[in-house]
Amino acid sequence: MRSCRIHPSILSADFANLEAELHRIATADAVHVDVMDNHFVPNLTLGLPVVRRIGEVSPLPLDVHLMISEVDRWAPGYADAGASSVTFHAEASAAPVKLARELRARGSKASLALRPATPVEPYLDMLPELDMLLLMTVEPGFGGQAFLDLVLPKIRRARAAIEGTGLPIALQVDGGITRDTILRAAEAGADVFVAGSSVYGTGDPAAAVETLRNVAQATPGATEHVVE
Ligand code: DX5
Ligand code: ZN
Repeated sequence: MRSCRIHPSILSADFANLEAELHRIATADAVHVDVMDNHFVPNLTLGLPVVRRIGEVSPLPLDVHLMISEVDRWAPGYADAGASSVTFHAEASAAPVKLARELRARGSKASLALRPATPVEPYLDMLPELDMLLLMTVEPGFGGQAFLDLVLPKIRRARAAIEGTGLPIALQVDGGITRDTILRAAEAGADVFVAGSSVYGTGDPAAAVETLRNVAQATPGATEHVVE
């Protein structure tokens, strides 16, 4: 049976009380940390010193999602800062294979992200270089946006390609994940789910994590990676 993992995004948490907010999601599988530079995306969040400190107090491993330009230059620093996984955008990287190898060499998992309109096919040959592929289900930059169903066929194609490698590469979706949309994403083949507003926007984040995980695990077909 496929294990479905839930990574709450602290983008929707209280930035003035991050340590307490991390403990409210301690039953999740990792914490998703969105780094934005106001250049690759039109929003600004936090950077390396804050991520390093979050790592020191977090009960969960850090899944760092870099939405920054010149990512080949900056991403290795996040691996050095103790991130369990570092995700960089294909659209922002000049040498994605080199960068993935550098992240792994520094002890982090390597993950590649694609915006909704970026095709996955040009990157399939580099799947063995990756521990995770992130298919954005909203345009990156903000929490609380609606899930883009147009990404579902790409999730199916990516799942089939991952199965073809025979490697344990995770397939993550990020953006607009709720107890409704997680069904469609899981059915299409995703197995790691980022959720911001649908976790921290509720009164009980731990219960929201549990609900999302249960819905994803129970999705028909989700355990067999079915590709139509
Ligand atoms: C958006 C970020 C997401 C965001 C998701 O660019 O990458 O991680 O926090 O927020 P929701 O779940 O509210 O769409
Ligand atoms: Zn994210």
